[in-house]
Amino acid sequence: MKNITVIGSGTMGNGIAHVFAQNNYTVNLIDVNEDALNKAIETIGKNLDRQVTKGTLTEAEKSSTLANIATFTSLKDAASNADLVIEAASENMAIKLDIFKQLDEICPAHTILASNTSSISITKIASVTKRPEQVIGMHFMNPVPVMKLVEIINGFKTSKQVSETIVNLSKAIGKVPAEANDFPGFIANRVLLPMINEAIISLQEGVGTVESIDTVMKLGMAHPMGPLQLADFIGLDVCLAILNVLYEGLGKDKYAPSPLLVNMVTSGNLGAKSGEGFYKYTIGSKDLVVSDRFKS
Ligand code: CAA
Repeated sequence: MKNITVIGSGTMGNGIAHVFAQNNYTVNLIDVNEDALNKAIETIGKNLDRQVTKGTLTEAEKSSTLANIATFTSLKDAASNADLVIEAASENMAIKLDIFKQLDEICPAHTILASNTSSISITKIASVTKRPEQVIGMHFMNPVPVMKLVEIINGFKTSKQVSETIVNLSKAIGKVPAEANDFPGFIANRVLLPMINEAIISLQEGVGTVESIDTVMKLGMAHPMGPLQLADFIGLDVCLAILNVLYEGLGKDKYAPSPLLVNMVTSGNLGAKSGEGFYKYTIGSKDLVVSDRFKS
């Protein structure tokens, strides 16, 4: 396993490329245009600089990491030589199915096809290929260079051998794998999103303020971020999409997304990426400022 192709150069894709390149894998990073790719390389450079500043990486290692990444806008050029493809495109079923259909045609017979999806069924993705036993989920956590976990999702037909290969590969890049079977939300989001949803319902019902809810969970449960800040960090649209997968896939009212979350997404308040969610975000500032709407 040497050549890794990463599809999508957004937050997750550039983090995945960063980690593989730092561990001496050859990475082909692909996106739809050069602007997105240039931005991704700039982000990887900045994140490598944090490691250099901290003394956990040398300048030479930073240079070799960047040299291990080549960028592409053609799927055929990026994936025809891949041992493993990790798709980290938008969380959109139609887009993912189209990508996997193309990959199945382009890639050599031995190539393993992985998706970084946070909640779309691996079995469904695998069903559009002629190699469902070689399709698997590799769900990295944000920020990818920092978070240790890779949730590995075995689809209905994923072979034991492919699963073992991906478990070992995850360890080789310094991550800790945890395996899940392919049910809505897998493990991570089956457990995380109901907690976030309950925090939003608690805010909606006036049980607590943004600050008190997040403080209780940060200091009371030793979470690095409170659930409302984490929701902003993940993206409120992503949280809503995952809750809808849980609600539709498991058919229980307890997964119904909070109406407040639905309203915020409908209004374009998507969290950190849109500049406002439960908190307000200013570029360059690390201060946590509660959104005016939720000020007590
Ligand atoms: N890339 C690389 N390194 C980064 C980084 C990034 N994007 N962001 C932060 N870091 C590093 C910093 O350099 C720093 O490193 P050291 O400890 O080695 O000095 C460390 O991470 C901590 O960063 P900061 O001091 O800037 O900030 P912090 O202490 O507030 O930590 C955080 C930031 C790591 C994001 C922390 O708040 C945290 O762990 N939050 C929870 C993250 C989480 O739960 N992620 C999972 C989200 S769910 C998901 O991804 C899956 C899904 O499907 C929805």
